[in-house]
Amino acid sequence: MTEKRTPMVAGNWKMNGDRSLVESFTNALNDKAFDRMDVIVCPPSVYLSMFNAEHFQIGAQDVSHLDNGAHTGDISTEMLKELGARYVIVGHSERREDHNETNLLVAKKVARVIESGLIPIICVGEALSVREAGEEKLFIGEQVAALFSEVTADQLKQSVIAYEPVWAIGTGKTASPEQAQDIHRFIRHVLSEHDADLADGIRILYGGSVKANNAQALFSQPDIDGGLIGGASLNTKDFIAICQAAI
Ligand code: 13P
Repeated sequence: MTEKRTPMVAGNWKMNGDRSLVESFTNALNDKAFDRMDVIVCPPSVYLSMFNAEHFQIGAQDVSHLDNGAHTGDISTEMLKELGARYVIVGHSERREDHNETNLLVAKKVARVIESGLIPIICVGEALSVREAGEEKLFIGEQVAALFSEVTADQLKQSVIAYEPVWAIGTGKTASPEQAQDIHRFIRHVLSEHDADLADGIRILYGGSVKANNAQALFSQPDIDGGLIGGASLNTKDFIAICQAAI
């Protein structure tokens, strides 16, 4: 990792957690001084306002691409900001699969998030069938390129990208550090076709079965700036150990 990119570890609780988990995370993370990295917790949105985060930041797992209005069940960027969110995960593979989110909708959400002043954590990654066909770079290249239909390279500069191979999510089967590094470098290459500074400066996280015992090997790769953590982000000890592996 280059000196200029600050390491980041973000926990994606998905549809898990309760008030007592909010409390134990708030206490455990506020107890630590993570001064050379960014630590983010992304709980379900209903819990955002229950955090009293001092040494970490909070983020949402999804957001509407629309402004406030007649959109039953949706949550706007303005609402998330009011609850203290600083980040929003956008385009997670579970949203793309379960809610038919397309590359275009993801790009629109990213545009809305950036415009609102929040920071998107933009997820990309291929399914097993795509990797088995040897088409992962084509697929991921399209996911990344689609962003530029709605935002400029300049606007993307503060954003974060997360590479999450779908076959590694929740399966216990992580990408090898070399496989992950190869895709991270490729994502920078795609970005460099738009803007060299963007490619060099943007943080790219790896996600997919990151645990305390494999985090260091992944995070020490030159183009991996930290992780987006699912299952292991629900346990304070495991999550803190993963954060420490990123410094
Ligand atoms: P796991 O760490 O449980 O594999 O989940 C990864 C993920 O989807 C984070 O967004």
